[in-house]
Amino acid sequence: MTTTTRTLITGANKGLGFETARQLLAAGHTVYVGSRDAERGRQAAERLGARMVLLDVTDDASVAAAAKVIEDDGGLDVLVNNAGIEGRLPDGGVVGAADTTADTMRSIFETNVFGTVRVIHAFLPLLDRSAAPVMVNVSSGLGSLSLSTDPAAPGYAYPGVAYPASKTAVNMITVQYAKAFPRVRINAVEPGYTATDLNHRTGTQTVEEGAEIIVRMAQVGPDGPTGGYFDADGPLTW
Ligand SMILES: NC(=O)c1ccc[n+]([C@@H]2O[C@H](COP(=O)([O-])OP(=O)(O)OC[C@H]3O[C@@H](n4cnc5c(N)ncnc54)[C@H](OP(=O)(O)O)[C@@H]3O)[C@@H](O)[C@H]2O)c1
Repeated sequence: MTTTTRTLITGANKGLGFETARQLLAAGHTVYVGSRDAERGRQAAERLGARMVLLDVTDDASVAAAAKVIEDDGGLDVLVNNAGIEGRLPDGGVVGAADTTADTMRSIFETNVFGTVRVIHAFLPLLDRSAAPVMVNVSSGLGSLSLSTDPAAPGYAYPGVAYPASKTAVNMITVQYAKAFPRVRINAVEPGYTATDLNHRTGTQTVEEGAEIIVRMAQVGPDGPTGGYFDADGPLTW
C-alpha cells in the first residue's frame, strides 16, 4: 500500500523544476528529479533530498529506462512535464520570425512537444495504475492564441515563433490527453515570467513565485479540474 505520492518532474535539476521538486518534497511527496545529465541530476537530488532519475526527453531509450526504474520502484502518481527550452541566441536575444527556420523550429519541438509526448506515452501505463493520477504540463502564456493576439497582453510583443508555437501544441496535447484519459487530472500551466537560465535571468518573478501554480496543480485531487490551462490567478484563455 502506497503511503506517499510518487512524483516525477522532468528537467528538475534547476530552475522551475528544481523549485517544484523542493515544494512538493515539503508537501510530503516522494520526488524523482528527472535530469538528462547524471552529475547535474545527482547534485540537485542530493541538495533536495530527492531521488534522481536519468531522463532525456528527446531520447526514446532514456525515457523507457526511466519509466522502468520508476515502475520497479513502485510506480507513479504525478507526472510534471517541465523540461523545456526556449532556444535563445547566445547573447540572450529571441530568434525572431525572419530568422526562424524549419531546423530551429524542429529543435524546439523535439524537446517541448515530441519530448512531452514521448514522456507521456511512456508513463501513462504507470499513471493508470495510480489511485489518483495527475499530470501537469508546463506550458507558457506565450502559447495562448488569444493572449498572443491581444495588444494589451504582456506577451503580445514577444517576437519568437518556435517557442510559443511549441507551447500552443502543449496546450492542445493537454486537452486531447485529458479527454482520452478522464481518470487522470491533466492540466497545462503558465508559471509566469520567471528569472531562470531559460531566459538568461530576464524574468521578473522568483522561482518560488513561478513554481506555485505547478505545485498547486500537481496536488489536485480526483475531483479537481482536468483539461484546463491555469496561471497563478486562475483559468487562462487558450
Ligand atoms: N522561466 C520562465 O519565464 C518560463 C515561463 C513560462 C514557462 N516556462 C517553462 O517552464 C519550464 C522550465 O523552464 P525554466 O524556466 O525552469 O528553465 P531552465 O532553468 O532552463 O530549466 C529547464 C530544465 O529543462 C531541462 N531540459 C532541457 N532539455 C531537456 C531534455 N532534452 N531532457 C531533459 N531535460 C531537459 C534542463 O536541463 P539542463 O540543465 O540539462 O539543460 C533544465 O533542467 C519550461 O518548460 C519552460 O518553457 C518558463
